[in-house]
Amino acid sequence: MKAAIINQFGNPDIFEIKDVDKPVIKPDQVLIKVKAVSINPIDWKQRKGNHKFILGSPFPIILGYDVCGEVVEVGNEIDKLKIGDFVFGVLDNKYGGALAQFAVGHEKCFAKVPNNISKEEAAAFPMVALTSLQALRDKANLKVGQTILINGASGGVGHVAMQIAGIMGAKVIAVASSKSKDFIEQFKPDRFIVYNEQDVLKLDKKTDVFFDVAGNYTFPKIKHLLKPRGVYLNLAYLDTIKKMPIYKLHQLFSKGKKAKTFVMKHDNSDLNKIAQWINEGKLKISIDKTFRLEQITEAHEYAQKGHNKGKNVIVISK
Ligand SMILES: NC(=O)c1ccc[n+]([C@@H]2O[C@H](COP(=O)([O-])OP(=O)(O)OC[C@H]3O[C@@H](n4cnc5c(N)ncnc54)[C@H](OP(=O)(O)O)[C@@H]3O)[C@@H](O)[C@H]2O)c1
Repeated sequence: MKAAIINQFGNPDIFEIKDVDKPVIKPDQVLIKVKAVSINPIDWKQRKGNHKFILGSPFPIILGYDVCGEVVEVGNEIDKLKIGDFVFGVLDNKYGGALAQFAVGHEKCFAKVPNNISKEEAAAFPMVALTSLQALRDKANLKVGQTILINGASGGVGHVAMQIAGIMGAKVIAVASSKSKDFIEQFKPDRFIVYNEQDVLKLDKKTDVFFDVAGNYTFPKIKHLLKPRGVYLNLAYLDTIKKMPIYKLHQLFSKGKKAKTFVMKHDNSDLNKIAQWINEGKLKISIDKTFRLEQITEAHEYAQKGHNKGKNVIVISK
């Protein structure tokens, strides 16, 4: 099968398009014929080698987690999915493996694609929607009527988190650059702060949740913006874990305010919930740019600038 592989960690031009063996499924896995893949920051961070101390260097590596495709083979322990199903999800292999004509994953990774979205949209949704849902519900404990500030609202996670916060009945303060103004306004946040014109730290209102998607603040810096028992939630897991001992000290004198971080979990019941919201027209995804597999270098160069509006997608097959 054709795949975009890397044989060493490095810059976006490290990719090679090669013929490699099709992956073989285990009894509890499914094989999918990949239709589209979306890029998340984890992909370009892993391409640079940022996770090699945890995941090793099993070259050749096929990157990519977010995928949609048709189920073409099922292991004998699979009971919910069947051949011919059109599914979307986040792969659970080391380094993913989506940037190829075929990919494998466990059943918990996938849900059926709602029939009101394209394959590009289906590939764009899974990681950012699972992250937004699980982070706001399970870590921030966001409740009806509460306020959430979303720092980095125009990116993949941010624009979906704005909508999920709305579905959960919260008020949204969106933070993004002036270049993202028109994009952000489509999602009708209660308030929009342009970070290159206004200092977020001098905000005149307190918030229940400070969702630091862009990850450029810290708990000590923003805790004055939190209401009592408010939550600072930073998505940069490894970086936040390192800072947690200091954050714990700050929590001692902070009226129950808490600093937290988060890692997305593979959970097809959450993905089915997301599919239901998509079906009901409550949740939309915005595609910034679409590329072919042969343009993977260009796609990673664009994505790692970190200023996309919504998501970038690689189309693999019809
Ligand atoms: N822990 C987890 O399980 C998990 C899951 C998913 C993602 N993540 C992490 O979450 C982060 C965001 O992911 P993503 O998919 O949303 O990335 P993305 O699509 O690349 O979005 C980045 C956004 O950040 C905004 N931004 C850049 N600089 C900013 C600043 N100084 N202040 C405020 N916003 C700024 C940009 O908006 P402007 O262009 O308007 O500046 C851009 O739209 C990444 O670090 C990713 O690795 C973690």
